[in-house]
Amino acid sequence: YGTIGIMGAMQEEIELLLAQLDNRLTEQHAGITYHRGEFQGKKVVLTRSGVGKVNAAVCTQILIDRFGADAIIFTGVAGAVDPQLNIGDIVISTSSLQHDVDVTALGFPRGTIPYQEVSEYPSDSGLIALAEAAGQKVYADRCLTGKVLSGDQFIADRSTVKGLYDELGGACTEMEGASVAQVCYMNNIPHVIIRSMSDKADGSAHVNFAEFTVEAANRSFAIVNEMVKAL
Ligand code: ADE
Repeated sequence: YGTIGIMGAMQEEIELLLAQLDNRLTEQHAGITYHRGEFQGKKVVLTRSGVGKVNAAVCTQILIDRFGADAIIFTGVAGAVDPQLNIGDIVISTSSLQHDVDVTALGFPRGTIPYQEVSEYPSDSGLIALAEAAGQKVYADRCLTGKVLSGDQFIADRSTVKGLYDELGGACTEMEGASVAQVCYMNNIPHVIIRSMSDKADGSAHVNFAEFTVEAANRSFAIVNEMVKAL
C-alpha cells in the first residue's frame, strides 16, 4: 500500500502508535487532527476521528481524499456481543453493519439501509488474513473473526446486547466501524476493524469500560503493530 490510514476514536486508542510515529507532520481538517509519518518504515496517516459514526465517516473520507489512504485499519475497544468473548479478547472484522439503522416500519430488516446494494460491508480478505496472523503471534486463542455491529449508542444492558446477538449475530458492538466500512466500500478502499473488548455491553459495561479501556486499546494496537510490520 502507498499510504495506510490508521484510525481510532479516542486518544487511548491511538496513543501508543502516536509515540512511535517517525517524522511526524500534523494538520487539521474539519476539526480532526491527522498525523502523517512513518511507522515500521511504512507511510501512514494516524488520526483520532472522535466518537460516533458521523465523525468516523467524515474522517475516513478525508483520509482517502486528502491523504491518499489506499487501505484503512481501525483500532480500538468494543463491547463483547458474542457470549464466548471475554474482556481483553480481540475481534477482527469480517464485515460490519449499523445496528441502529431501523426502517423496519417500511418492511426492511433491521440494519438494512433502504434502496442500497448492501448494508453489511465486507472487510478486505488480505487485511483480515494479515490481522489473523498478527493475532496468532500476539494473542493466540484470544482472537476471533466476526461481524462488528456499530451504532451511535453505548450499549450497557444485558437484554439489549442479547437482542443484538440474537437478531444480528454480531461478535462485538462499538460506535464507528461500520461507518468507516461504508465509506471505504463507497470509495473501493480495503479496510479492516480490530477491536479488543473493554466490556460486555451489559449492566457492568460503564464500570468495565472505565477500568479496561486502556489495556484493551493497547491490545488492539499490538495487533496493528504486527500487521504493519508484516506489510
Ligand atoms: N465501546 C466499548 N464498549 C462499548 C459498548 N458497550 N457499546 C458501544 N461502544 C462501546
